[in-house]
Amino acid sequence: MKEHVLQTAIEAAHRAGKLIAERYPDERSITLKGYRDIVTEVDTAAESIIIDLVRERFPKHAILSEEAGGAGIGAGITWVVDPLDGTTNYAHRIPCFCVSVGVLENGKPLAGVIYDPLRSQTFIAKQGKGALLNGKPIHTSQAARLSRTVLALDWGHSDEVRAQTIKLLLRTAPRCGTVRALGSAALALAYVAVGWLDGYFSLALKPWDTAAGTLLIAEAGGRCTTLDGDPYRVGVPDSLATNGLIHDEILAVIAGSAQLPAVHR
Ligand code: IPD
Ligand code: CA
Ligand code: CA
Repeated sequence: MKEHVLQTAIEAAHRAGKLIAERYPDERSITLKGYRDIVTEVDTAAESIIIDLVRERFPKHAILSEEAGGAGIGAGITWVVDPLDGTTNYAHRIPCFCVSVGVLENGKPLAGVIYDPLRSQTFIAKQGKGALLNGKPIHTSQAARLSRTVLALDWGHSDEVRAQTIKLLLRTAPRCGTVRALGSAALALAYVAVGWLDGYFSLALKPWDTAAGTLLIAEAGGRCTTLDGDPYRVGVPDSLATNGLIHDEILAVIAGSAQLPAVHR
């Protein structure tokens, strides 16, 4: 059953990604759906493709999807879908976005797929079976010193979250190699899983941002916690995802308790 679920998640992400890539050069139809939060016609069209396929194959499974909403995360199987993660990038033609499809069983990640349709990169994870990029096993980075790392963060939308994120940036930026903001939370998690980033944090994550990525990190040998260091559960807004080696050091830096020099070469 797990295999069939994973194959469907891959197929759904690929079908949605194909549409997203085909429509990339077109004019955008953009609607403001919240404070600093936009949605395009392509988000909803891609979402329908995924939902239709999952409903056809698994009519009894629950689905929670960003634009369509749906069930909360409860008992049994829940598909948690972000049909287009990185909508602002997409709308501005910044080529950094993805499709994220996570499958949870009783709230715990069972399978996850993150697909970047412009680069044809498919990241997949199956609980207990490892993580792959385009069929090849992946592992988080080996960086053990914060001063050598590339970290990423996300800004969220609200003024409060941004002010809090700036505080964390003031603590982390002087101590790491450099900092990026990709504008796609799911892709940032995939990049931590494959070792291209050493760590990522955000204070404003939604279940569909992390349902697939958090399993990728775990299966690739990394670690995900809240910013307080508690184990991360899908649905919690704050998360730190790293290669594991630098995790406690970043937690201490974030908490403001690190006694490190600004940069230790
Ligand atoms: C957003 C992206 C962005 C993050 C936001 C998310 P969306 O998702 O992941 O990087 O900063 O918090 O809402 O709206 O493009 O699917
Ligand atoms: Ca998202
Ligand atoms: Ca989205």
